[in-house]
Parts: sequence; C-alpha cells; structure tokens
Amino acid sequence: MRLVVAITGATGAALGIRLLETLAHLGVETHLVLSDWARATIRIETPHTVEEVRELATHTYSARDLAAGISSGSFRTDGMVVCPCSMKTLSAIRIGYSDNLITRAADVTIKERRRLVLVPREAPLSEIHLENMHYLARAGAVIFPPTVAYYARPTTVASVTDHIVGRIVDQFGIEHSLIDRWKDDQLPANAQPICS
Ligand SMILES: Cc1cc2nc3c(=O)[nH]c(=O)nc-3n(C[C@H](O)[C@H](O)[C@H](O)COP(=O)(O)O)c2cc1C
Repeated sequence: MRLVVAITGATGAALGIRLLETLAHLGVETHLVLSDWARATIRIETPHTVEEVRELATHTYSARDLAAGISSGSFRTDGMVVCPCSMKTLSAIRIGYSDNLITRAADVTIKERRRLVLVPREAPLSEIHLENMHYLARAGAVIFPPTVAYYARPTTVASVTDHIVGRIVDQFGIEHSLIDRWKDDQLPANAQPICS
C-alpha cells in the first residue's frame, strides 16, 4: 500500500502526525507533503519539530517541487489523504488550481480515479465551504470532517484523535486496531427504550 499524505495549515496538525505514525506502524509507504502553513501549525500546536514529522514518512517532498513523482499520474499510488485540509487547499482542489504539489497530487488522484480523502477543518462552515465540499464529493472525493465520536465515550484528546485517524485509515480498507468498534451489545440498558 502506497499513500500520498498532505498536511495543510488548518488547525489539527496532530491529526496528520498521528496518521503518519499509524501508517508507519502498519507498514504503509507514505509520500508526505507539508504546506508552508502546516509547518507553522506543527510548531504552534504540537511539541514536534517539522523534521520529526518528516521522519515519520517514507518519502517527503517540498510543496514547491512540481517535478516530484507524485505530481504525475504515471506514479502509481493507492490514494491520497489531506489531513487536515484547509479551506484554501480545499477550494484549490475543487477548481483544479494545481500551483503546489499538494493541489497537483490531489488533482492527479481525482483524474486517475483513485481514492482522495479530504479532512476539512473549519467551523462554522460557510456556503462557499459547503459548496466546495459538495462539488468535491460529487467528483468522488471522500469528505471526512474530523468530528468527535461521542458514542465511543472518549476521555482524552488522544483518544478522540485516534478515533478520527482510525476511521480515516478505514477509508483505505487497511486493517488496524486503533479504535474500539461499535458492537450491538454496547447500548446501555437505560438507553433501550429509545430503540423500542
Ligand atoms: C493556528 C492556525 C490555525 C488555522 N486554522 C485553520 C482552520 O482550521 N481551517 C482553515 O481553513 N484555515 C485555518 N488557518 C488558516 C490557513 O493556515 C490559511 O488559510 C493558509 O493559507 C492555508 O494554506 P495551506 O492550505 O497551503 O496550508 C489557520 C491558520 C493558523 C495560523
């Protein structure tokens, strides 16, 4: 399995970092691109250096390197994740404005009919954001907002992060044990009446 992973400058750098850690642990080959503002959010939001994040990937590229292998459809991959995905990058992908390696690789992923998972982070969402996501969903992208799965009763930010990352990894059919999956005997007794 070979995936392109992009981290952009929306808040939630920890999600992209945990995704890289998980994919490395699962033996997935990763091709990483960080936007300039992802470098900033990594420094602002996490205890990691940009270099430490780059070391989690199998290959890394400058976002300015439009001659990198992943900018061509002839370079085979199993898909791409943009996690987190800023509204700026989302809008560029929506219109095919491929002026950096992230938007170019996403454009290639769509045209080659490969799986593209976008993890957009913004709140509240404007009509422009929603319209861009709607268009991309119709073009085949998976729009995966990083929301809290309260049903899993998370008690730490780390467990919230793991649940989101686990469900992103699910999108590629990769086996993992990052999350406790919902079971049909999990409903508490006092919740039964609402289902009768
Ligand atoms: C700390 C911080 C948090 C940000 N959070 C968001 C966000 O959640 N969503 C978003 O769309 N942009 C957010 N931005 C703004 C983006 O970084 C900005 O639009 C940038 O141009 C995105 O460029 P990129 O997509 O190339 O990384 C944030 C910026 C900073 C500094």
